[in-house]
Amino acid sequence: MFQEIAHPLIAHEMGILRQKDCPPALFRQSVRRVAALMTPYICESFATSAYEIETPLETTTARRLQHDVVLVPILRAGLGFLDGFLDMLPHAIVAHIGLRRNEETLQPHTYYSNLPLAVESAEIILLDPMLATGGSAVEAVKQLREAGAKNIRFACLVAAPEGVEYFTKAWPDVPVHAAVLDRCLNEKGYILPGLGDAGDRLFGT
Ligand code: PRP
Ligand code: URA
Repeated sequence: MFQEIAHPLIAHEMGILRQKDCPPALFRQSVRRVAALMTPYICESFATSAYEIETPLETTTARRLQHDVVLVPILRAGLGFLDGFLDMLPHAIVAHIGLRRNEETLQPHTYYSNLPLAVESAEIILLDPMLATGGSAVEAVKQLREAGAKNIRFACLVAAPEGVEYFTKAWPDVPVHAAVLDRCLNEKGYILPGLGDAGDRLFGT
C-alpha cells in the first residue's frame, strides 16, 4: 500500500523545504511540522482499548493505544524527521538504525543498530525523509523483521516512484506513507525535483 498524504498544509511546507537557500534552522522546523501533520494518517488504524477514568463529575470510559509504539529513525536524516512524530506520540520508544548509502554503488551500508527486544506486538514506524532507490528502507525493514517486528509502517517526506516500486515489491505488507511523491531519480540517485541531500540540509554539512 502506498499513500501520498496530499494535504494543503504539507504542500505549503514543501515550498519552503524545496528552496535551495532555506537555512538549516528553518528546514528543521518545517520538516518537524510535516512529520506532525503526517502522524494522524499513519496511525489511523492503530488499535485502542477501553479503560475507566474519573472525571471531576463522574466515572467514564476513555480509550488508549493498545500497543507500544516504536519509532525507528534511519540515521542520519531520519533524526530530523523524528521530532514531529515525538510531538504527537510522546510516549513512543525510539530505536535507531544507522545506514549510509554508498555514493557510487547506491548500496546501503549498516554502521549502527539498536533495536528494542519487545518489538513483536509493537506498532513500528520506520522513519526516513527520503525514499530514493529504496535500498536503505528495504534493508532497514529486513533488520526489523530479523528482530521480530511484525507491524511495520514506513514514513517518508519525499518518495521517488522507483523507490516506491522497489520497496513495495520487497515488502508488500509494509504500508508506505509519503508526504509527496516526486517525479523520478537523476543519474546520481537523487530525487527530482526533490530537496537535495536531506541529511546535509538538516544538519548544515
Ligand atoms: C539518504 C536518505 C536515505 C537514503 C535514501 O541517506 O536519508 O537514508 O539516502 O536513499 P536510497 O533510497 O537510495 O537508499 P544517506 O545515505 O545519504 O545518509 P545520511 O542520512 O547520513 O545523509
Ligand atoms: N538521499 C537524499 O538525501 N536525497 C535524495 O534526493 C536521494 C537520497
